[in-house]
Amino acid sequence: MEPAAPYTLVTGASSGLGRCAAVRLSGERNLILHGRNSERLEQTLGMCHHPERHIVWPFDLKNPDELAASLAPLLAGSGRFVDAFVHCAGMVTVLPMRSVDYRTAQEIMNVNFFSAAEIVHLLLKKKVNHQRLTNILFISSIWSRFGARGHSAYCASKAALDGLMRALAVELAPAIRVNSILPGAIRTSMAAQGFDDPSIVEKLERDYPMGTGQPEDIAGAIEFVLSGKARWLTGQEIVVDGGRTINMSLK
Ligand SMILES: NC(=O)c1ccc[n+]([C@@H]2O[C@H](COP(=O)([O-])OP(=O)(O)OC[C@H]3O[C@@H](n4cnc5c(N)ncnc54)[C@H](OP(=O)(O)O)[C@@H]3O)[C@@H](O)[C@H]2O)c1
Repeated sequence: MEPAAPYTLVTGASSGLGRCAAVRLSGERNLILHGRNSERLEQTLGMCHHPERHIVWPFDLKNPDELAASLAPLLAGSGRFVDAFVHCAGMVTVLPMRSVDYRTAQEIMNVNFFSAAEIVHLLLKKKVNHQRLTNILFISSIWSRFGARGHSAYCASKAALDGLMRALAVELAPAIRVNSILPGAIRTSMAAQGFDDPSIVEKLERDYPMGTGQPEDIAGAIEFVLSGKARWLTGQEIVVDGGRTINMSLK
């Protein structure tokens, strides 16, 4: 069957940054809204412009080896193809390294990194996606470049994502642009614990020259990177952090 409709696949669209980006993109694009929780995915769909144009895809990314069996039938033979992929799904577990066993690290790597790699692998297959992919965007983190106590697996997973991004940007040019966005602190369910602690909020207020961010700040950056205005942008880690990582102030 000849492909008919281009879709933008947004993982992690059931919450936080992914939901905000999906709602923003839904006016101009057909979306495949991915998440784990079906109820929250349906809520996102209800918030989108033109809900009838989008589809939901619940899937647990802790099992990336099952992705092919779930994603390929959603596309192959359906008349749909994915031209843009935004990997926003992510998880964090705060543990000292002595408590990070292989299984814990593997789970974080599966959700944050291996699932992104496997989805790209599938979307590059002619039989699955008709070679129609033009844009890949990973939501990484400023923590991919730095360290934080208790975040070894998270930092490693985001650094892996950025490494993959650079390699793919070279390998897949000129047909496909590949970039990462590295957000700073944004109040979502992932970051809620920190934002509920007054001593952390006080530190965030000191460290962020522009204050902490809103999901819309990242959604705007996502919209720009996917757009034709970013036609020559590839292979970049785009830091969107209100100045956090350039702030060397002592007080
Ligand atoms: N918030 C921040 O300050 C911040 C800063 C830097 C980077 N980031 C990155 O931004 C991205 C979005 O995070 P957020 O702040 O929006 O967090 P969030 O509100 O907790 O959203 C996380 C999303 O990932 C999905 N997800 C988690 N585990 C999954 C699994 N096993 N299978 C499938 N989906 C799964 C969730 O799906 P369900 O809702 O269905 O569980 C949800 O849609 C993440 O990659 C995070 O690392 C966030």
